[in-house]
Amino acid sequence: MIDTIIPTTTEAAEPVTADGTPKMSARDVSVFYGPKQALQSVSVDIHDDKVTAFIGPSGCGKSTFLRCLNRMNDTIPAARVTGDISLDGQDIYASKMDVVQLRARVGMVFQKPNPFPKSIFENVAYGPRIHGLADGKNELEAIVEKSLKRAGLWDEVKDRLQESGTALSGGQQQRLCIARAIAVDPEVILMDEPCSALDPIATAKIEELIHELRGRYAIAIVTHNMQQAARVSQRTAFFHLGEMVEYGRTKDIFTNPREQRTQDYITGRYG
Ligand SMILES: Nc1ncnc2c1ncn2[C@@H]1O[C@H](COP(=O)(O)OP(=O)(O)O)[C@@H](O)[C@H]1O
Ligand SMILES: [Mg+2]
Repeated sequence: MIDTIIPTTTEAAEPVTADGTPKMSARDVSVFYGPKQALQSVSVDIHDDKVTAFIGPSGCGKSTFLRCLNRMNDTIPAARVTGDISLDGQDIYASKMDVVQLRARVGMVFQKPNPFPKSIFENVAYGPRIHGLADGKNELEAIVEKSLKRAGLWDEVKDRLQESGTALSGGQQQRLCIARAIAVDPEVILMDEPCSALDPIATAKIEELIHELRGRYAIAIVTHNMQQAARVSQRTAFFHLGEMVEYGRTKDIFTNPREQRTQDYITGRYG
């Protein structure tokens, strides 16, 4: 309510309620692993033009929630998801939803870089090939080049595309995984603590990359590093014990949270 009082055009004073139609929308999402409930009635939106950060202490359900957004939890036999999640207004849990297609539209980058034990070229070419995105060799090469460029890796690997992806440094491997996600022309990129296995320089490169990718893809990033959330995101959702406690403009969450639990977390009272 207070948000709507001051009419102004600056981003800072715009109410989050004016964010517009979300790219993805989660409503009342709960997740159970067998009898154990890991997420309780989470509702969050993800926007095309923004980076959304999910923060909160270890075990609070951040990865579980992220995996709901491209149905990666389907691969965990004990996991059961309830609630509604839509992509461009379409129910992603509808029986007619093609899950392989969904995971191309909503790509994922994991905590530990996981390139295939194949060449750098093949790591990026694999997705476009199985999705039939390239018409011939030249087009496939063009997709690989474009994806590696967007992932900020091209200059470092262009002369050794046939070398193994696993021979790259950790930071390069993670950018290769981002290139692999980009290659199938996603609309949303989910990143689960993408820098937690990286050194500070490699981390800075990924953060810079996230800035560059913003606007082209809707991005959601899980991080337990609050400085990182503050640097890379425009919206933040704070999770605690399976609940989404507070969602808002990143700056507000870190400087002026509404909830005591958020305040306690950002001031380091528990971690
Ligand atoms: N595959 C799984 N099977 C059973 N329990 C799980 C599984 N994955 C996560 N959990 C449990 O769900 C809760 C949330 O975990 P997770 O989503 O990984 O949290 P976070 O990413 O915030 O650290 C934790 O209690 C965790 O032990
Ligand atoms: Mg996690």
